[in-house]
Amino acid sequence: MAELVLRNAVSAAPLRGPGAVAQPLRATVPQPLLQVDGVSLEYRTPERVVRATHRVGFDVHAAERYVLLGPSGCGKSTLLKAIAGFIPPVEGEIRLDGRRVTAPGPDRIVVFQEFDQLPPWKTVRENVMFPLLASRTLPRKEASERALHYLDKVGLSKFADVHPHQLSGGMKQRVAIARALAMQPRVLLMDEPFAALDALTRRKMQEELLALWDEVRFTLLFVTHSIEEALVVGSRIALLSPHPGRMRAEINSHAFDLHSTGGAEFQATAQRIHHLLFEEETSV
Ligand SMILES: Nc1ncnc2c1ncn2[C@@H]1O[C@H](COP(=O)(O)OP(=O)(O)OP(=O)(O)O)[C@@H](O)[C@H]1O
Ligand SMILES: [Mg+2]
Repeated sequence: MAELVLRNAVSAAPLRGPGAVAQPLRATVPQPLLQVDGVSLEYRTPERVVRATHRVGFDVHAAERYVLLGPSGCGKSTLLKAIAGFIPPVEGEIRLDGRRVTAPGPDRIVVFQEFDQLPPWKTVRENVMFPLLASRTLPRKEASERALHYLDKVGLSKFADVHPHQLSGGMKQRVAIARALAMQPRVLLMDEPFAALDALTRRKMQEELLALWDEVRFTLLFVTHSIEEALVVGSRIALLSPHPGRMRAEINSHAFDLHSTGGAEFQATAQRIHHLLFEEETSV
């Protein structure tokens, strides 16, 4: 019975092979904003080649919150770097608005896990302004106004003129998010942005990110290895197998938020994801 409820709640199915299901969504919606199409990524050193992902494919539509979930080493960060334009695929293609991604650009901004991503000699406001000025997106006055606008959105307008060392870890991450959103990217890429925060702050940041998404409706590609965080933050989740990362399944998670974490349906879905991620391929 529990299994039946679960199947109604989520659409988890192998993407290829005998168990594959057709996805009617694809036939009825406009062209995806981001297309990752059969992408294999490798690191090459003189001694060896490390394959980080193997023929990974997924689509992200405008204003989706798409999550890449998988165990450590399955290639999540590498995929994000490839989408940002820092690593070219050895196989397959990444397209944004139908155009192949070949280099970094202001339409794809990354927020990382580390708190030290803000130059310490710049004030909070200068940090948020910097990419706007460096990319010649806006002149100084407008950049300053836009910086304040997004600092206000993350609740930090009072801290605009302090330096990063005067902020907590969570506040620094809010600045990094404001800096990214101020660029108004086509896709916001986040690589485990809350992983280094304590549990309470992490939950608060997830809540704030969802509130911010409700207001701004940006397109989010979010990396995590926490099943709970994936279900809370994501509207759709790609499950990647252990190294090298392959697509295992896609889960529809828009029904869940921070208030569903204790619920039976949430727990059952988390359990099913755990099985999909860690059981042998034959039993999926
Ligand atoms: N610079 C590098 N040179 C060689 N191999 C690398 C390099 N960076 C990552 N790798 C390898 O590529 C694979 C994927 O790494 P990646 O960092 O993308 O994993 P991840 O899913 O982000 O893991 P985590 O959850 O621990 O952050 C791993 O096997 C890793 O050892
Ligand atoms: Mg990583």
